[in-house]
Amino acid sequence: MAKTNTPINLNEFESLAKSLLDKPAYDYYSSGANDEITLLENLQAYKRIRLYPRILVDVENRDMSTTVLGTKISMPIMIAPTAFHKLACAGGELSTAKAAYNNQTIMVLSSLSTTSPEDVAASTDASLWFQLYIYKDRELTKSVIQRVEQLGYKALCITVDAPLLGRREKDVHNRFSLPDDMTIATVGDYLEKEMAESARNSSLNVYFASLLDQSVTWKDVEWIRSISNLPIILKGVHRRDDAIKAAEYGFDGIIVSNHGARQLDTVPATIDLLPAISESVGDKLEIFLDGGIRRGTDVIKAMALGAKAVLIGRPILWGLAVNGSEGASKVLQLIREETDLAMALCGISNISEITRDIIH
Ligand code: FNR
Ligand code: LAC
Repeated sequence: MAKTNTPINLNEFESLAKSLLDKPAYDYYSSGANDEITLLENLQAYKRIRLYPRILVDVENRDMSTTVLGTKISMPIMIAPTAFHKLACAGGELSTAKAAYNNQTIMVLSSLSTTSPEDVAASTDASLWFQLYIYKDRELTKSVIQRVEQLGYKALCITVDAPLLGRREKDVHNRFSLPDDMTIATVGDYLEKEMAESARNSSLNVYFASLLDQSVTWKDVEWIRSISNLPIILKGVHRRDDAIKAAEYGFDGIIVSNHGARQLDTVPATIDLLPAISESVGDKLEIFLDGGIRRGTDVIKAMALGAKAVLIGRPILWGLAVNGSEGASKVLQLIREETDLAMALCGISNISEITRDIIH
């Protein structure tokens, strides 16, 4: 029988996307920092964890819907914020939002989107969260927060693992920068007015270092809470003591994340950081996780170790590159089906029943 080329899992989506994307775009999306030790580790760590299924459980009716910060989603899998979706397909972030809507899950829009938060919100009824980088210019930061709050974004996800951008060496070789016909849409006007031409057209690292604030501390995140009514999630938590601090400060959630291994190389896989964090603050705030989730069994493992839900980054970009919003939808559908099957085979009919003893 003839084999089809249609991808049937997330890894096959990556292979096909690689053959379709320009090299600098594929390199930007796929890279990790430096030697990419953590990039590999984020994947390998799941391969070391063994499941421990229960037998003779009625799994005829299965439910994987859940509620995150008050919003019901159809599965415990959300779309992580990633930059520059127009590099993957012409529809860019609008295509991603459509896929989120079709799958009844949340899209976290990146601060570095190539479509404005206004256009994304106007295009969709999907639930949206906004990922925030804190700018040196606090008035700009404040105006972005007010804009997304008015537009109906439901939470702010503040990325706290990137005072500077990690060094992705392929991007250095490729002199990666955005093509002329794309902009960082959230702050497009500001860039036009305030930044020198040279800085606007320079590499992402230069943009990051010149616009974003390297002096951010807990006080600044506290300030954001004082000017916004939105729930706040800290994205990029690695350590138990920082997770405890986030709970003490009263933040609503954390994402255990190493930024898809793009920041500090040689940090552990996020799944290996999760148990200590969930033991410490699991009852105090909502814990999410991203990094290396490629299989339904990965989703089950993350939930067993304490995540309320997970997010996927790169696989969505591969879906967009293969077939726009339909490709991204298909990626979500495939991982949903894998999660459903893994649940059934573990002897779990409702994801609220996933407990740690499902890990061997
Ligand atoms: C990211 N990530 C990211 N995070 C963030 O807070 N703001 C951003 O703008 C971006 N941009 C971005 C671009 C690209 C190309 C990638 C791959 C990642 C990190 C992202 O939110 C998430 O933490 C990881 O992608 C999760 O790992 P996986 O699923 O890609 O392995
Ligand atoms: C990245 C930034 C934009 O990881 O967060 O490329």
